[in-house]
Amino acid sequence: MQIGIPLEVTRGENRVAATPKTVLQLIALGYDVVVQEGAGVRASFEDAAYADAGAVVGDVNAAWHSDVVLAVNPPTDEQIAALHAGATLISFLAPRQDPELTAKLAAQGVTALSMDMVPRTSRAQALDALSAMANISGYRAVIEAAHAFGRFFTGQVTAAGKVPPAKVLVAGTGVAGLAAIGAANALGAVVRATDVRPETAEQVESMGATFLHVRSEDQGISSDGYAKEVGADYAALARQLYAEQAADVDIIITTAAIPGRASPKLITADMVASMRNGSVIVDLAAQGGGNCEMTRPGESWVTENGVTIIGWTDLASRLPGQSSQLYGTNLVNALTLMTPEKDGQLVLDFDDEVVRTMTTVREGHVTFPPPPIEVSAAPTLAPAVVAEASPPPVPKKPKPWWLSVVWVGLAGMGLIALLTISPSIFVTLFGIFVLAGVVGYYVVWNVTYALHTPLMSVTNAISGIIIVGAMTQLADDNPWVKGISFIAIALAAINVFGGFTVTHRMLTMFRKG
Ligand code: NAI
Repeated sequence: MQIGIPLEVTRGENRVAATPKTVLQLIALGYDVVVQEGAGVRASFEDAAYADAGAVVGDVNAAWHSDVVLAVNPPTDEQIAALHAGATLISFLAPRQDPELTAKLAAQGVTALSMDMVPRTSRAQALDALSAMANISGYRAVIEAAHAFGRFFTGQVTAAGKVPPAKVLVAGTGVAGLAAIGAANALGAVVRATDVRPETAEQVESMGATFLHVRSEDQGISSDGYAKEVGADYAALARQLYAEQAADVDIIITTAAIPGRASPKLITADMVASMRNGSVIVDLAAQGGGNCEMTRPGESWVTENGVTIIGWTDLASRLPGQSSQLYGTNLVNALTLMTPEKDGQLVLDFDDEVVRTMTTVREGHVTFPPPPIEVSAAPTLAPAVVAEASPPPVPKKPKPWWLSVVWVGLAGMGLIALLTISPSIFVTLFGIFVLAGVVGYYVVWNVTYALHTPLMSVTNAISGIIIVGAMTQLADDNPWVKGISFIAIALAAINVFGGFTVTHRMLTMFRKG
């Protein structure tokens, strides 16, 4: 099959759906690739580089008449008309926001897969183009803020005086928010962040920022990896927090989003008015209406009190080389999933939930919306079943305090009796067991959660003691003892070496360069 890579015609779009590197990967999957002349120029990829990678550089018709077309933006009517019946289009298609486009693609008799429908599951991470673009946008938001802010981000002591570090507030700590925290922190700013999902606090703190909690009962805990709308109590407390922060910080980067809803309004006009002259707000949610009341989508403007409000909706496109490379890799990963034989033949397996969820049109039939899938980030709460006219629950009587004392006393006496009649070797081993339990408890719970996997894999090395024990038994004459010792050595060795391999791989993830 032939893959076509067209030139993006949307105004201000600098990205392209394939780079010379990803063309090589597409060819390795068995496809022929045609790249439209000039398709990669705005992302610094020359036609000659595509040709060197093995693509044919052709005209607009050659790209759009391919069996599979890979693009960034939704197609225009003219481009839809250029697709032949039976062709497959893979692109951002926004089927929720633009049902008319889905209908037009169906009428053309094509198959369409939307990159913004990739579910947020672990298996689909390598295809998750929205996250890849949000990551770039979070980084770029900080660069835009630094450009508009007339001061350093980092604090300095110079001969000409002391410079305090800039204070940055990040609202919404999803993919874009975390990327913004990383970039602002790297530039030396003092970073604070908040989110309606309190479970993100640990990630925020592990990146060197301070998490600002909104202490409310109605947190936006989700069952699908996304936030839900907050209640009135939370909203009031959050407003107070943003008002205090707006008057204190130099830069606010907002990224708060709830899928399928308008962007929550977090920063009011009054808060903007309380900010210092020269402060900057970058509103990543501008496309959906903005998290700041005064954002103008697609514009950057300065308020009367000197606050720059940036509402660019094309942040990823402002780093076109990087975003094309990551998006192109997302597409290669999608095609790898759909080319099981690596023979250049696209197979749409509807039993695969990732493929099913992305497909909005299949051979001219609309398949959107897909069946819901669970992408649980937090345990799902079972719906409360309230029986009709059921009597109000009777409060349980609290247990008398002395009952637990009696139970603990009885258990203690039973244990002492058991130890008194037990052989001394049992008492010794039991003592070691209890001590090991106490030491293990403090070792494990004093280590941050994120490091539990390397810790546990390293402690696998304790299996070494099994190897030593089993080796002493290998000399035994009984063939059963010999056999069991051999199996014990083999299994413990897997544990030890496997543990060190996992630890090594995890540590290299943290190593720079
Ligand atoms: P995400 O879903 O990973 O993160 C959004 C975060 O906002 C979540 O952590 C959520 O809990 C939080 N949130 C929701 N309601 C909140 C509230 N009331 N208060 C505080 N936090 C709240 O989304 P992602 O991928 O990080 O994208 C963030 C935003 O950036 C989206 O609106 C997206 O459309 C936009 N975006 C903008 C681009 C641009 O060029 N301007 C490019 C890419 C993404």
